[in-house]
Amino acid sequence: MFQADRRDLSCQPSKLASPQEQDQPRLVQVPDADRQDMQFPDIWLRDNCRCKECYLPQTLSRLPQLWNHLDTSVRVLRQSVDLDQEVLCVEWSDGHASQYPLSWLRERDFSSANRQRYLRDFYRPEQKLWSGLDFEHMRQMFYYQELITCDSALQQWLHHLAVFGVALVKEAPLDMDVLRSLSNRVGFMRRTTYGEEFSVRAQPGASNYAYLAAPLPLHTDMPYFEYLPGVTMLHTLEQSASPGGVNLLADAFYVVEVMRERYSEQFRVLCQTPVDWADIGSDGDLHFHNIWRAPVINLDAEGRCVRINHSIPQRDSHFSVPVEQVRPWYEAMATFVGLAHEHSCRFKTTPGDVLTFDNLRLVHGRTGYDDTDRNVRHILGAFVDWDIVYSRLRVLRSASATSSSPDAP
Ligand code: OGA
Ligand code: ZN
Ligand code: ZN
Repeated sequence: MFQADRRDLSCQPSKLASPQEQDQPRLVQVPDADRQDMQFPDIWLRDNCRCKECYLPQTLSRLPQLWNHLDTSVRVLRQSVDLDQEVLCVEWSDGHASQYPLSWLRERDFSSANRQRYLRDFYRPEQKLWSGLDFEHMRQMFYYQELITCDSALQQWLHHLAVFGVALVKEAPLDMDVLRSLSNRVGFMRRTTYGEEFSVRAQPGASNYAYLAAPLPLHTDMPYFEYLPGVTMLHTLEQSASPGGVNLLADAFYVVEVMRERYSEQFRVLCQTPVDWADIGSDGDLHFHNIWRAPVINLDAEGRCVRINHSIPQRDSHFSVPVEQVRPWYEAMATFVGLAHEHSCRFKTTPGDVLTFDNLRLVHGRTGYDDTDRNVRHILGAFVDWDIVYSRLRVLRSASATSSSPDAP
């Protein structure tokens, strides 16, 4: 068991800067040949010292000692740039000395252009939102065998999925291992209360609404989970020969932007009204009672939409909000559902297709179909999580950047 070293953890009171000092950004200006000066807050530089007392290269991580009694009023006493070594040298008021490679500083420069570059190229690719009418233009096919054998095809698929929220994989074999093989190429499958792979087909007495032949209106999968699966994959093994079983898809983040612009009050209501999502039942031997309470539209700290929750069958009859919030929510939701339909697209997958989409962003569904003994629709589903997809994308990107660099062996 991990034994905490009490001496290390005995935090002395931090020395805090005075209220006037706290308002000062106190920037260290670093000249850089042929480029604009770089700027770094002094406290950030002190926190990110690269010496062996402050940083452990083998784990690529910061050591915590400085934070045992953080002096937020620490100041630069002297700074210089060693042009031969290409390093910034700093002496600090707490007696410490630091050196920072200029190349390392360039990647972390606080300029707006550099922050944007980092977010777009390293954090996550910028999402491009679409309406149903644009769908044909952004629709791109990927081929199963290429994804399994070729890293650059894999990278293109995951990048397209991150940017547009949907990608269609073609020519997968009609066997039960396809989703596992694809998931393993990304990292690993996400298990849920319905197991790892799940079969969507009409089942008499089904315990889940999706397992009926009835129309399945636009929804996100599993809104009743706090940690809902990020990417849904649906592999068509057999398609209904009846006119139904048509896929419906809409970019709900696009719908959110329409609402933000044109229906600002309904937008606010859908962002601020918590809704109870629920799934109660059993699958095999597992009995479950899942509830998650969250709005339909979920925004991040910068006001960007990061998650949609929506499923008519899986919205609980419990609605744990004050009564005066109920009717406005229904009014707002009617607008959202109407817009989602207006901006949706439809197509029908054929056996061997794997439809992959962002389950935080897109709403999906299918039209009803007729199933008989001779005409059986069978879709196999599975999930992977976005953390795993983004991680894989960054690893693929670094590997392709290294292999294409002129210095690579
Ligand atoms: C589901 C689902 C789609 C389909 O099972 O959640 O969205 O085409 N199925 O049957
Ligand atoms: Zn240090
Ligand atoms: Zn679904």
